[in-house]
Amino acid sequence: MRLFYAILLSREIRDALIDTQERLREQGVQGNFTRPENLHLTLAFLGETGNLSGARRAGEALDIAPFSLCVKGLGSFRKGKSELLWAGVEPNSSLQQLQRMLSERLRQEGFLLENRSFQPHLTLAREAQVPASFDRKAFAASFSKKTMRISAVSLMKSERVRGILTYTELFPGRLILHGEGNS
Ligand code: 2AM
Repeated sequence: MRLFYAILLSREIRDALIDTQERLREQGVQGNFTRPENLHLTLAFLGETGNLSGARRAGEALDIAPFSLCVKGLGSFRKGKSELLWAGVEPNSSLQQLQRMLSERLRQEGFLLENRSFQPHLTLAREAQVPASFDRKAFAASFSKKTMRISAVSLMKSERVRGILTYTELFPGRLILHGEGNS
């Protein structure tokens, strides 16, 4: 099965991202928009694996205090002519630490992760075609900052169900972060 670790989003942030997708469409952006229920922040992509128990162990009792995360702005990764559009995340040392710790644990369990530096993002649309008239700066500035509290990571399964890309949380609620927690 195809697995990844992610942070799932609060209702408020998901709604703000759905609204952002709607506004992108209104401004003529076309592409493969992420379905609302699939919006998430990827921490680590494990790929195809049969090692479910190792994947699960890696995410248990991560010693990171709960923290706040701010979602803000719009960015893109370009691949040839097409683009992946995303909502950004304010720099956050707890998030970086969490991603590093989880990746180390996954490597100890034998998973081969990509060595690319972690660029946290929330994918809004893949294979996007953006009209020349689209004002990226103005659009990014119009996205009001939203904050959510992070106290769990989720092990996710990715599969096609009747042709539709579907993400399912495995072991919901099992992977609670530890620590005292502050801002
Ligand atoms: P994304 O984070 O840019 O949206 C499940 O496929 C999730 O893992 C997606 O959110 C996806 O991209 C992310 N991911 C990271 N590396 C991937 C890869 N090599 N192949 C597929 N998905 C990957």
